[in-house]
Amino acid sequence: MSDALLKAEGLAKAYPAPGSLFTKQRKVLAVDGVSISVRRGETVGLVGESGCGKSTLGRMLLGLEKPDAGRVIFDNDVMPPGNTRAWRRLRARIQLVYQDPLGALDRRLSIAEQVAEPLGIHGIGEPERRMAQAATLLARVGLSQQHGARLPHELSGGQRQRTVLARALATSPELLVCDEPVSALDVSIQAQVINLFAEIQQQFGLAMVFISHDLRAVRQISRRVAVMYLGRIVEEGTTDDILQAPLHPYTRALVSAVPNVRKPRTRRMSVAGDPPNPAERPAGCDFHPRCPLAVPACRNLRPLLLNIAGGLRKVACHLVAENEPRQAARAQ
Ligand SMILES: Nc1ncnc2c1ncn2[C@@H]1O[C@H](COP(=O)(O)OP(=O)(O)O)[C@@H](O)[C@H]1O
Ligand SMILES: [Mg+2]
Repeated sequence: MSDALLKAEGLAKAYPAPGSLFTKQRKVLAVDGVSISVRRGETVGLVGESGCGKSTLGRMLLGLEKPDAGRVIFDNDVMPPGNTRAWRRLRARIQLVYQDPLGALDRRLSIAEQVAEPLGIHGIGEPERRMAQAATLLARVGLSQQHGARLPHELSGGQRQRTVLARALATSPELLVCDEPVSALDVSIQAQVINLFAEIQQQFGLAMVFISHDLRAVRQISRRVAVMYLGRIVEEGTTDDILQAPLHPYTRALVSAVPNVRKPRTRRMSVAGDPPNPAERPAGCDFHPRCPLAVPACRNLRPLLLNIAGGLRKVACHLVAENEPRQAARAQ
């Protein structure tokens, strides 16, 4: 038995490269050997630039996408294949909140009806009590009965995302995967909505995977952070460690870009160059073409994700491994 609620082991997913339909089929490795675990009630942040594979990983964690390699273990059982009966039953325990709340809602149904809907689908509670339960759920996310009577387009973006959250909570899930849940919202209300997610996470004792391209959003809510680059995790640690002493040059650049962080002990850095293209993966370390600290080994040899600091952190960088040779051990 493990104390992880969710465990992903060596997940990989490739898609056909754009434009290769009629030529020799090239592949884009969107996710390449990612292992991650989430304990009950814990929030893990997943951060990285657009296109680095966060959504693909999120979909595999939920069983919405079949991995090419690796497996997902939820509550000590291997995740059943998508769309089977066993998987649909599991879906009550794992919910998804994604970026576009309008796309997630039915334009013709009232807000309260949509929050009540999963109760019907999963046969939860008495049918005549479901609208009352929906009202309770809406109140938990700060929406009134008046809001409940409206249609999605009559609410603001923030209110719609609150609705999606209420709907996700209807089945009392144990795990919520949130994929860029505030990225489409006005900057002025992003912090408010993240705070709501954090409150709900605590009240319900939920485990959460919180995905964002923005480290500012992730740090507000996550106890642990995993940093992704080109389909792989390049660093993982507690949010405090990641912010105060980032080790991977890419993480250092991400942290440098966050205002009002007590500046890390390391030198300020920025990421130059274009965001990486998974169709053109460089040899050696994926980050080396943009890394100001790259040494010859970085061009030839791919660094492994190693356990450091007694296993409390993981990092995939030759420079760090060189500095901590005795502590470095291959991470699982
Ligand atoms: N369904 C798909 N078909 C083809 N390529 C895809 C598909 N989904 C994602 N990709 C590609 O996989 C890579 C990772 O995408 P994604 O997981 O959406 O990254 P992120 O969420 O970090 O922006 C990108 O290059 C993207 O173009
Ligand atoms: Mg995405």
